[in-house]
Amino acid sequence: MTDYDAATYGDRIAEVYDDWYVERPDPSAMVAALAELAGAGPVLELGVGTGRVALPLATQGLAVHGIDASAAMVAKLRAKPSGDAIPVTMGDFAEVGVAGRFSLIFVVFNTFFALLSQADQVRCFRNAADHLTDEGVFVVEAFVPDLSRFQRGHSLSVESVRADLVLLNAAEHDPLQQRIVSQHLVISDDSIRLYPVQMRYAWPAELDLMARQAGLRLRERWADWDRQPFGPSSTRHVSIYGRSGARSQEQDRAVGI
Ligand SMILES: C[S@@+](CC[C@H](N)C(=O)[O-])C[C@H]1O[C@@H](n2cnc3c(N)ncnc32)[C@H](O)[C@@H]1O
Repeated sequence: MTDYDAATYGDRIAEVYDDWYVERPDPSAMVAALAELAGAGPVLELGVGTGRVALPLATQGLAVHGIDASAAMVAKLRAKPSGDAIPVTMGDFAEVGVAGRFSLIFVVFNTFFALLSQADQVRCFRNAADHLTDEGVFVVEAFVPDLSRFQRGHSLSVESVRADLVLLNAAEHDPLQQRIVSQHLVISDDSIRLYPVQMRYAWPAELDLMARQAGLRLRERWADWDRQPFGPSSTRHVSIYGRSGARSQEQDRAVGI
């Protein structure tokens, strides 16, 4: 697929996104942890989508701003109760093209990997850092890459089989660019629908390096939103970055960095 840009994923999936994802995975532990990290706010979500996270966060009394490239996803947000109360800047979130500073900037549900080059991901870290308050944090939730799912550069998995439809995922892997080009296929009696997803994945260590280049340091890394410790068998991570400060430089010296 050649005509894929920042809006393609959202514009294609908006019609089914909330049916597929609004409860699964349950966002309540994530919302509680983000609210605690935000303090008094304000908060910025990169890739705000249909407001699955932004709306419950705003009900905690926080000022939440979003960025998204997909008009179709933001239309779904606007159609929800209080959906008009979340200001959304339309555009590429790598730019972080909003005014002001935030106590919390976050990008969840693997959305950071929607930036399809290392250069865009580095730029996003820098721009996020520029929009943090002195004590602010940048939070990234993403999967830990698992290349064992690919055989000869491809994978095909069954996501769901029901009486009336089958959901498949077909993916192609480019290990040099760290890119995965995939399609969710929804097959029913009278149609086959394609929902394209492209990603550029990164291991946690690469994200930490991007953070350092942006003047940020890893403060904490959890295996999930319940703050379980991150370890070698963790399949995803919640990484919390804050400004490099005297305290984190001391910590670096203590571990010999
Ligand atoms: C997986 S959805 C996540 C939505 C929401 N954060 C959630 O957790 O439900 C990814 C969102 O990021 C948006 N997106 C993807 N790439 C983008 C980009 N480069 N700039 C702005 N938005 C982008 C999509 O339009 C979509 O709304």
